[in-house]
Amino acid sequence: MSEPRTLAPPERRVAVVSGVERLGAYDLITALDRFGPADPRPGQFYMLAAAGEWGGGADERPYLPRAFSHARARVEDEGVALDFLLEAVGPGTERLSRLAPDEGLALVGPLGVGFRAPAEGTRRLLVGGGIGVAPLLCWQEERGDADVLLGFRTALHAQAAALFASQPQVATDDGSVGRQALVTELLAAQLDGDASATVYACGPPAMLEAVRALCAERNVPAQLAMESGMACGFGACFGCVVPTRAGYVRLCVDGPVLDAAELETALVAGTGH
Ligand SMILES: Cc1cc2nc3c(=O)[nH]c(=O)nc-3n(C[C@H](O)[C@H](O)[C@H](O)COP(=O)(O)OP(=O)(O)OC[C@H]3O[C@@H](n4cnc5c(N)ncnc54)[C@H](O)[C@@H]3O)c2cc1C
Ligand code: FES
Repeated sequence: MSEPRTLAPPERRVAVVSGVERLGAYDLITALDRFGPADPRPGQFYMLAAAGEWGGGADERPYLPRAFSHARARVEDEGVALDFLLEAVGPGTERLSRLAPDEGLALVGPLGVGFRAPAEGTRRLLVGGGIGVAPLLCWQEERGDADVLLGFRTALHAQAAALFASQPQVATDDGSVGRQALVTELLAAQLDGDASATVYACGPPAMLEAVRALCAERNVPAQLAMESGMACGFGACFGCVVPTRAGYVRLCVDGPVLDAAELETALVAGTGH
């Protein structure tokens, strides 16, 4: 598939929360989307807001919806069950982390363009950092043939590794699970052993920059799922533009997955989960 982009219905719709699960430092929210497409592409994202109690408080925050990659999508009798993995870091994610079953989740999506197929003759190497593991989960499950490297701060965060069926290699900052290392050290070791890989990465800015540099040194193709602040999510506000070698692009329309080779290196240092 040349353009991994499933188009969203044009209006905001309300899905129904069907599951909430605490997973260490993260929350896994499942919502039944009755009216959206059944085939969002791994790496695409949704703009989410709780249908109730979203803004209107003392400072009106969070007000705007927030962007989230779907971690999984399953077709069920009544619609598509979408899983979102989130980390509560501010008013929007805190409200979403308090969602309960049967509450409404307002969403627009899927948006943007997802991961592209690997280069001919290369294996897929998935590299996730922290909450950035979310879009890698459905990408791993879709094709099942990937090697997965995950990095987390602590054992609490590393509980998210259990979502992956494929025995991922795990590194933690404090050594409480797996190797005490950065996930990019696991990546370097993999590429030193066999550089015939296409790398797919999502994680914090410093991690993405390290992945970009490692892959550039070895001439390994890499696709990075990136972030920037998103107000609309569908190309109207230009709030999410990022510089590339070909000029500025709107990350919500031309990304969030970009080829590492397209990036100005300074870009990667300024964005991320
Ligand atoms: C395409 C895309 C996919 C995403 N997928 C996920 C996901 O699957 N799970 C998840 O938990 N989060 C994801 N995020 C990040 C999520 O959108 C932000 O964490 C969220 O907007 C924070 O909202 P808030 O109101 O809780 O906090 P805010 O008050 O908006 O922010 C809290 C803190 O996070 C920083 N911050 C907020 N948004 C960003 C950003 N986009 N980039 C860098 N720093 C930021 C702020 O500067 C502040 O320090 C994604 C973002 C994008 C653009
Ligand atoms: S978020 Fe509005 S143009 Fe990208």
